[in-house]
Amino acid sequence: MKVIKVRHGGGEYPVYVGQGLLGTASAWARHLRGRVLVVSDETVAGLYLSRLGGALEGIRHHQAAILPDGEDQKTLANWQRVIEALVELGAQRDATVLALGGGVIGDMAGFAAACYMRGIRVVQVPTTLLAQVDAAVGGKTGVNLAAGKNLVGAFHAPSAVVVDVDTLATLDDREYRAGLAEVVKYGAIRDAAFFAWLEQEADALAARLPDALLEAVQRSVSNKAEVVAADEREAGERALLNFGHTFGHALETATDYRRYRHGEAVAIGMSLAARLSELLSLTIPGVAARLDALLQRLGLETQLAPGQDREQLLSLMRLDKKNQAEQIRLVLLEGIGRAVVRPCEPDEIREVFKEP
Ligand code: NAD
Ligand code: GLY
Repeated sequence: MKVIKVRHGGGEYPVYVGQGLLGTASAWARHLRGRVLVVSDETVAGLYLSRLGGALEGIRHHQAAILPDGEDQKTLANWQRVIEALVELGAQRDATVLALGGGVIGDMAGFAAACYMRGIRVVQVPTTLLAQVDAAVGGKTGVNLAAGKNLVGAFHAPSAVVVDVDTLATLDDREYRAGLAEVVKYGAIRDAAFFAWLEQEADALAARLPDALLEAVQRSVSNKAEVVAADEREAGERALLNFGHTFGHALETATDYRRYRHGEAVAIGMSLAARLSELLSLTIPGVAARLDALLQRLGLETQLAPGQDREQLLSLMRLDKKNQAEQIRLVLLEGIGRAVVRPCEPDEIREVFKEP
């Protein structure tokens, strides 16, 4: 097991990364204090709730709140169910929320912990690759509104994050591959050595070989920890984590969140952003081809579908939160391992939208 420390404004917390962590009440169980509410979804609870037995041993008052799964369940109504479960448990200010699940559960349970009695402890136990390498680390919590994703939320740092890569064995192939897109992102934007290692280990990762997977998760978490330590509130470097996301969010919205998993849309978005970086001579030619080759070996698409309405994507990109003064601001590459935020003209973006 490796312990990665995340420094933030209020102190620091450990991220435990290893195999078999759920089944053994090892070091991480000491972060469970007071009464404990486990929050999970139906799928994950069916698979992993019983494995928490060892960690909960000796805790006199604990309960589970099991919610339906899916992005459409990340609502204020389910957030309220978590709050009511805390009341029913008799949770005091020393209580702990244990979030067991993907990013939906982590964000929603984290937000409940941020609000209950103005803030109680949360321990994040992420079970999807996306949540392990991204969502569970960094303290962003929240829920969706009908008007948009993550419109209500708070920064609330966890007391600890417990990443058991064994849980990834039950993740379906598309969820797994979508998570790999976020792993590649860290290499592309800030860690050229990690990117080269991913190229070397792509087949092992596609086959989910445990050693490769463990190292990929550890190196991703280390990258995320460094970014959060440098810029917890997203005043600078943290914005670079949005590489591929402005294109990706537009694509998800244009396809009603039905066609692409988030990471799949981000993979296409990263490819488009890399091509735009070359077009603007921010980087030498060949970077986009190298990125595409890695994404494709990991089973991810890199091209927009032929019939995709490009002008609709451009309109949606104008709504992105990073934009200022009507300009579309994109994360672009200066090379593998180096990224910048740059305003872009619609005609520049139209160039990479052209069919090959
Ligand atoms: P998710 O939580 O919806 O999980 C996807 C599906 O996988 C669910 O049906 C879940 O039940 C199932 N599942 C989870 N773990 C499993 C396992 N080990 N085996 C089998 N099935 C399993 O989706 P996600 O991709 O983990 O997270 C997406 C959410 O994360 C979005 O709401 C996004 O906004 C949020 N997010 C937050 C941050 C952040 O910084 N807070 C960062 C990135 C994404
Ligand atoms: N997932 C982006 C962030 O944590 O800032």
